[in-house]
Amino acid sequence: MTGLTLWRNSRLATLAGDLPWGLVEDGALLVERDKLAWVGPLTDLPHDLRARVGAEHDLGGALVTPGLVDCHTHLIYGGQRAREFELRLQGASYEEIARAGGGIRSTVVATRAASNEDLFAAARARALTLMAEGVSTLEIKSGYGLNLHDEGRCLSIARRLGAELPLTIRTTFLGAHALPPEFDGRADDYIDAVCAWMPQLQARGLVDAVDAFCENIGFSPAQTRRVFEAARALGLPVKLHAEQLSDQGGAALAAEFGALSCDHLEHLGAAGVRAMSGAGTIAVLLPGAYYFLRETKLPPIAQLREQRVPIALASDHNPGSSPGLSLQLMISMACTFFRLTPEEAVRGVTINGARALGLHDRGTLAAGQRADFAVWELQHPNELAYWFGHNPCRRVVVAGHERPPAPQKT
Ligand code: NIG
Ligand code: FE
Repeated sequence: MTGLTLWRNSRLATLAGDLPWGLVEDGALLVERDKLAWVGPLTDLPHDLRARVGAEHDLGGALVTPGLVDCHTHLIYGGQRAREFELRLQGASYEEIARAGGGIRSTVVATRAASNEDLFAAARARALTLMAEGVSTLEIKSGYGLNLHDEGRCLSIARRLGAELPLTIRTTFLGAHALPPEFDGRADDYIDAVCAWMPQLQARGLVDAVDAFCENIGFSPAQTRRVFEAARALGLPVKLHAEQLSDQGGAALAAEFGALSCDHLEHLGAAGVRAMSGAGTIAVLLPGAYYFLRETKLPPIAQLREQRVPIALASDHNPGSSPGLSLQLMISMACTFFRLTPEEAVRGVTINGARALGLHDRGTLAAGQRADFAVWELQHPNELAYWFGHNPCRRVVVAGHERPPAPQKT
C-alpha cells in the first residue's frame, strides 16, 4: 500500500464545522492518493494513521485553505476590447456599444478568426495566472463562437486545458450569449439552432452545464426557457446570467429549472431571491464586472443572507465586462463594494464556488474531500480579503500532487 502524505504545522481554514472559518490551530492534513484522509490538530492524529505516513511536509506555520474555485469565466476568446473601454470612459454605455454591434459581437469576430493554437495559448496563460493565486477548479464558458463549429472549437480548447494543466476545468455551453450577425432579426431561429447544437456538443463530451444571457441586450425569458428545456431534456444542469442590467425575472425562471447558480444579480428583486432560496440555487456575485462597468446598483446582499441563499464569487474573466484575472481582487472588491465579510468572501471562492458548479467533493478541508489546497504566506484567513495587488500564495496541491513551479522542498 502506498504511504500517506502528512502536511503539518499549519493554520487550517477548513471552512468545515461550526467555528468561524473552521479554523484549526497546529493543523495537519493527511493525504491518501487524491483525497484528504484526515484533517485536524496534529495532536489528535490517530496513531494507526500516523504509522502509515510515508512522506511529510512541514508548512512552517503557514495558512492553508481549500483550493480556490473560479466558478464563472469566459476564458477563451480572441482579441481584446481596450478601445471599447475608452469609449465607455467617454460616456458610451455597455448597452449602447452592444446595440451598435460592438461588445460581445466584436469578440465573436476576433474569436472566429483566431487559430486553435492562438486561442489555446492565450487561455492557457490566463489560466496559469489564476492558478498562481490558488485556483484549482475553473469553469470556462463558450459564447464567443456562436455557431456550431466555433462553439465546439472553444469548448474543445477548454477540455484540452483541463487535460494539459493540473486543475479541474468545468465547461459551460453559452451559445445563447448574443445574437450572431448571420441571425440578425431572427433571435428565435437562433435559439432553435442553439438547442439543436446542444446534443451534438454534449455527445462530444464538451458540455458540463448550460448557461444563457437573459437580458434586454441578450435573450428574453421565453427564449431562455427554451434553452433550459433543451438542457433539461439532455439531463444537463443550467446556470444563468441573470438580472445584470435589468430585472427580467431570469432568476425565478432559472430557479424553476433547479439552476445551479444565477450570476451577476445586481438587479435581482425579492421574488427572485425567494425563488433561488427555494431551489437551492447559488448566487454568484461578480465584483469585477460591477467595478469595470461602473455599476452603482448593489446586489441585494441583505436579502440573500436573510433567505439563506449561498453566495459565491467569481472573476467573470472576459474581455468586455471583467478583464481581471485575480480571485483575490474579487474577494477584496466583494468586501469593499458589497460589504461581504471576509469569511463570506472566502467561502464564495471555495465551498460556494464549488456548489455553483454542482461539485460536492471539494471546497472545504475535511476527510473524504479531494486533496485540493492552497498554502499562503499569511497568518490569518481574513488577510485574504485585506491584501490586494500582490500574491501571497506559495504552494498549491491538486488531487494530492503539488503543482510545479511551487518549491519542491519539504
Ligand atoms: O458575464 N453579460 C454577459 N456576458 C459577460 C460579458 C461578455 C462580454 O462583454 O464580452 C459577462 O459580463
Ligand atoms: Fe459572465
